Amino acid sequence: MTNKPRRMFQQVIDDYARLEPEGGDTWNPLHREVELEHRVELLRRLAAGLRAAAVETESLKILDVGCGNGRSTRMYLELGFDPEQLMGVDVRSGALRTARHMHAGIQFLLDEGDGWPLSEGAVPWVSLCTVFSSVRDAEDRRELADRIRRIVPPGGHLFFWDRTHALDFAGGDVLVPSDWFEGFAPVWESPAVVAGYAAHGTTEASDVPTHRATLLRRC
Ligand SMILES: C[S@@+](CC[C@H](N)C(=O)[O-])C[C@H]1O[C@@H](n2cnc3c(N)ncnc32)[C@H](O)[C@@H]1O
Repeated sequence: MTNKPRRMFQQVIDDYARLEPEGGDTWNPLHREVELEHRVELLRRLAAGLRAAAVETESLKILDVGCGNGRSTRMYLELGFDPEQLMGVDVRSGALRTARHMHAGIQFLLDEGDGWPLSEGAVPWVSLCTVFSSVRDAEDRRELADRIRRIVPPGGHLFFWDRTHALDFAGGDVLVPSDWFEGFAPVWESPAVVAGYAAHGTTEASDVPTHRATLLRRC
């Protein structure tokens, strides 16, 4: 019997094969009211985060890590970014096929477990939209954070949007971006109560935040 080394991020690939089988669009806001609310709150916070960063947006290069089928990448187009400024990366080839089909002008990269073809300090704005909440393994979270730390130059930003807690299948722990992103300083934060979601550990709607946007700046 061979002892095959574990592929980085295999848990995510396995869980998403169930959550969003190839060719699927599980989180289409047209079909799920809660997703519509989620996207609206996310778009609001992304615009606010970009304003808070006070960056020059015209030439800003953006990498959407965990872009899935590209919905979170295409959101930047709504805010006036050019497709050539945008890149997405994911570990799921099927989701990337959809992403490329939806917008051929955005570059989408498949991560096959051995890193990203991006040089150190090459990306001044990284976006992470609902990614860590489905990554269970501490080693995978650390690797993901390390890769982001390498490609963001001093003064560059990380926009982090997610549930307040990981999903149950990913551990259900409280998500605190600063725990992983050493070398980044918090700039701005905005909690959100997304209608239709119950706060972690509850079943009823309340005014307890369900999601949070955090903007971090690389020191
Ligand atoms: C809930 S989906 C969100 C997709 C997209 N960001 C959006 O908002 O529509 C989470 C995505 O993160 C991806 N992902 C998780 N860990 C990853 C990693 N280490 N590298 C790249 N993508 C990852 C998953 O494959 C999945 O497509």
